[in-house]
Amino acid sequence: MQARRVARSALLAVAASVIVLAQPDPADPTPLVDKHYNYPDGIPYQVDYDTAAIRGPQVGYNICNSTTQNQQSMCQTSFVNHIDVSDFCLWAPPKPNSTIGQTEAEEVAWCTKPGHGTRLIPDSALRGVQVLKTPDYIQIAGFIDQSQINMTPDDYGGELDPHGADLRGNPLGGLMYSNAFPGSNGNNDSYQQIIDWTNFMGANAFCIKVCDPAKNTGPALCQNIYDRLGCAYNAPNRAKNGTFEVCDADNMSPPGVYVSGGATMTYFQPPESLGPITTVPYTPEAPSSSNCVTYTSAALYTGLPKSSHPAVRPGGGGASAPITKSGSASAPIATTSDSAATATGISMTAGFLGVLFAMAFLS
Ligand SMILES: *[C@@H]1O[C@H](CO)[C@@H](O)[C@H](O)[C@H]1NC(C)=O
Ligand SMILES: *[C@@H]1O[C@H](CO)[C@@H](O)[C@H](O)[C@H]1NC(C)=O
Ligand SMILES: *[C@@H]1O[C@H](CO)[C@@H](O)[C@H](O)[C@H]1NC(C)=O
Ligand SMILES: *[C@@H]1O[C@H](CO)[C@@H](O)[C@H](O)[C@H]1NC(C)=O
Repeated sequence: MQARRVARSALLAVAASVIVLAQPDPADPTPLVDKHYNYPDGIPYQVDYDTAAIRGPQVGYNICNSTTQNQQSMCQTSFVNHIDVSDFCLWAPPKPNSTIGQTEAEEVAWCTKPGHGTRLIPDSALRGVQVLKTPDYIQIAGFIDQSQINMTPDDYGGELDPHGADLRGNPLGGLMYSNAFPGSNGNNDSYQQIIDWTNFMGANAFCIKVCDPAKNTGPALCQNIYDRLGCAYNAPNRAKNGTFEVCDADNMSPPGVYVSGGATMTYFQPPESLGPITTVPYTPEAPSSSNCVTYTSAALYTGLPKSSHPAVRPGGGGASAPITKSGSASAPIATTSDSAATATGISMTAGFLGVLFAMAFLS
């Protein structure tokens, strides 16, 4: 679905918008999810060739290389890689002080590693990250000083995904690749295009999930119809502000699917025309995780440009990784008041950030 701009006041206001059914753009009727290209040689300069469409032309490009590796890059080819789990990109605005809602069609890739021809996330912006490697997807959730990636500090953000009302994607023409999954040749270092992915940005937090294209679970696990429910429902996790960790985990229950009284139920997000979402019949739980390894941010994220903001390195910096290894299966990681991912639904008794993490997208 489309990313939506969510202001704090919108939590109380009754949204007046109409329901927009997904309709292909007549000028470029091929949905973005059906445009498949081998990386890197098969990728065209721009995958969205609709220059006369209502939402305008694609603002950036998909061929990205050393000449586009700079902080003005308009690269719209993104990655979540496994060789090094600290190698991923987030979608964020090309111009300073923007909201996701105003710029959802235009977001560009901001990455943690040079080499993809994109912008780089400044070195003190990431403040806590949890990577979950599950059988069917890879998920990265955490905390970020979003002003350092051109977002207004108070933007509650929204969802980016390869769908959108006109099926051209948000951003338009945005592509996602990964070398994290074994390809058809069993070589897990080859890049594959990710068809099912989702990325929520806002409230100084984020989550991005890429589903294995070889599994048939992508449409369910990387679902895009719960765009008002945020990371807590779409990407349950135990990310903690100040902690950088990589874990193995089970698959989550698909967003919207829950068990009540022994019966498996599916919740659907109501249309915006019905006003704010005030209750959801279930509270999502992060899947069991194991083999968590904790790092310092300095050890994970090397080669990044200096932030123009004062460096904040919660958890301390400088030591080489890993600093701890914890780990029995499903050991719940301590729940602290600043734990985004432990967001337990929309309960007001949840930690402050947890509430934001969930509430941010309830408009
Ligand atoms: C590098 O990327 C730019 C922008 O997409 C493109 O114009 C240029 O042809 C690329 N260069 C090479 C050598 O592929
Ligand atoms: C950012 O945008 C807001 C709202 O448009 C404006 O009030 C504020 O002055 C801007 N801040 C900067 C640093 O440009
Ligand atoms: C895939 O990657 C894992 C982890 O990096 C490695 O242990 C494994 O040997 C790789 N498998 C193949 C077939 O390359
Ligand atoms: C994360 O921690 C840093 C440093 O303590 C703090 O400045 C920032 O506001 C926190 N982020 C969130 C989203 O709570």
